[in-house]
Amino acid sequence: MTRTTFTTTAQGLDRKSLPLRLFEKSKTLGVWNPSDLDFTLDHTNWQTLDPLEKRVLLHLTTLFQSGEEAVTLDLLPLIMTIAQEGRLEEEMYLTSFLWEEAKHVDFFQRFLTEVVVDVPDLTAFETPIYQMLFKDKLPTALNALLTDTSPIAQARASVTYNMIVEGVLAETGYHAYYAMLERCQAFPALQKGIYLLKQDESRHITYGIYLLSRLIHNNDNVWDAVEETLNELLPMALMIIDEIFQQYDVMPFGLKLEDFSSYAITQYQARYAKLMQARTTSPAELFPQ
Ligand SMILES: [Fe+2]
Ligand SMILES: [Fe+2]
Repeated sequence: MTRTTFTTTAQGLDRKSLPLRLFEKSKTLGVWNPSDLDFTLDHTNWQTLDPLEKRVLLHLTTLFQSGEEAVTLDLLPLIMTIAQEGRLEEEMYLTSFLWEEAKHVDFFQRFLTEVVVDVPDLTAFETPIYQMLFKDKLPTALNALLTDTSPIAQARASVTYNMIVEGVLAETGYHAYYAMLERCQAFPALQKGIYLLKQDESRHITYGIYLLSRLIHNNDNVWDAVEETLNELLPMALMIIDEIFQQYDVMPFGLKLEDFSSYAITQYQARYAKLMQARTTSPAELFPQ
């Protein structure tokens, strides 16, 4: 592959584009350092929890920790595809996207090693449908881009990664988890980290909706693939939320299934409506300054 031109010298960066606006935000909001969080009080309070509370907190943390690892490992084929298409502004944003995911892995690992300390084997918390999504569907959809960079393959990857894993599961999980931590006020560093992490995730999802809107708007055959992938994976994501709650007769910390599932559905519907609009509306109009 040869290069015919350089964006920065031929026309300059498109600073008004959504990806560069997100990059601008990442340069200030995304630079928080998990190592700056002081987990001392979290560790003290962890020791006062009863066994059930410890189990639930470990369960949720496990799903976030493995999920962050999965999205860190699986993003590169998408970045490579965007780079090969010469989309400089999008790739610039994606550099912060990947870095932020790595920091999220770092953050949860610090919680486990500095707050929990004697970390048991956590793999039993990775329930069957969770495993199906994170060990099969996600890596398969992203790694498909290594051999097929078509708009349909990109859309399937982005729906799986941004709409389902980040949009339905992660964002919903962090929303409910943060609300729970705010109520119990026992884990200030964990709470602070999740607040910061949620901000990063909302930029990731916005980029995903932008990417999907561009793919849908510019390619007639992409919408059907988007719907097909959503129809396959949305029920799976909701079943994962069920899988968690099924393991407990009574959930501690006031956690409720509805807190997770109703927020998930509301957020999902708003994004789905935006994607539908993308069939007739350009990304620039959909994401005005
Ligand atoms: Fe993340
Ligand atoms: Fe993310």
